[in-house]
Amino acid sequence: MEANHLSKISTFLFLLFASAATLALGQGTRVGFYLTSCPRAESIVQSTVRTHFQSNPKIAPGILRMHFHDCFVQGCDGSILIDGAGTEKTAPPNLLLRGYEVIDDAKRQLEQACPGVVSCADILALAARDSVVLSNGPGWPVPTGRRDGRVSLASDTANLPGFRDSVDLQKQKFAAKGLNTQDLVALVGGHTIGTVACQFAQYRMYNFNSSVTVDPSISPSFLSQFQSLCPANGDASKRVALDTGSENRFDNSFFGNLQSGRGILESDQMLWTDPSTRTLVQRFLGIRGLLGLTFSVEFARSMVKMSSIGVKTGTDGEIRKVCSAVN
Ligand SMILES: *[C@@H]1O[C@H](CO)[C@@H](O)[C@H](O)[C@H]1NC(C)=O
Repeated sequence: MEANHLSKISTFLFLLFASAATLALGQGTRVGFYLTSCPRAESIVQSTVRTHFQSNPKIAPGILRMHFHDCFVQGCDGSILIDGAGTEKTAPPNLLLRGYEVIDDAKRQLEQACPGVVSCADILALAARDSVVLSNGPGWPVPTGRRDGRVSLASDTANLPGFRDSVDLQKQKFAAKGLNTQDLVALVGGHTIGTVACQFAQYRMYNFNSSVTVDPSISPSFLSQFQSLCPANGDASKRVALDTGSENRFDNSFFGNLQSGRGILESDQMLWTDPSTRTLVQRFLGIRGLLGLTFSVEFARSMVKMSSIGVKTGTDGEIRKVCSAVN
């Protein structure tokens, strides 16, 4: 009798917490959403990403960043994928995104396997996870059931984090999406893979601001290497690794580079300069005396939070027929 009562209470508590978790994260998405409606959905996305990755590993950071830029604008609803004048895609922060062809390819195959079922927003969320796995990073179950948005405006991209944003501003932009400071540091840690054009870093070495020429947060022992990667008046479109020495491998060496003043982006290096985020960087590095954080675990956790921002579910939005246009 008593045991039965206890088990009822714990079942009740479990359901309460489970539904609270569903409400807080993803508002109606769930792992395995396509299990019956399109059982091969996740494997089709995975094999498509793998095929493209094998011929060009740079699509991995491209897709990860694309997913992030999708979620921060109008929620994770595939609005980044829409073609046309004045769409998100045409806004300055999105001009150098790559990997659209991978999402379009997966969608083509999914429309053959299960027409009208799998959203472009979900394809992008799954492809971002698969890209990290292919780069030797962690995997995680991706809640699905997002629907595609019908609005995509370049003017909405102003709330994307920028490469000269202070830590306070970065925190504000993440907090506005329900992400805390640890999420910020973990997700910026995604810069463990990928590259950036010299145009976003050159000024740090040659004309930082009106009082100093060189950004003092650059380690003096890194400066000459950094200068040879991005020479003064050199090709502004030349790509440089965000995680020097480990650009294709998903690991925590990016944080080690911040610790030694070898960050490429000003906004990344600031995570070390600012004491409030430095502690988190140190914890990801497992500095003795601090409670350690395992980057791969925390990155996966923060990705699930990030990819539930403003999702459209149920009868909201639509399932696009092609990812580059609304129906
Ligand atoms: C230039 O950068 C230095 C180092 O970060 C800073 O201390 C200084 O306040 C900045 N000056 C201006 C005018 O922004």
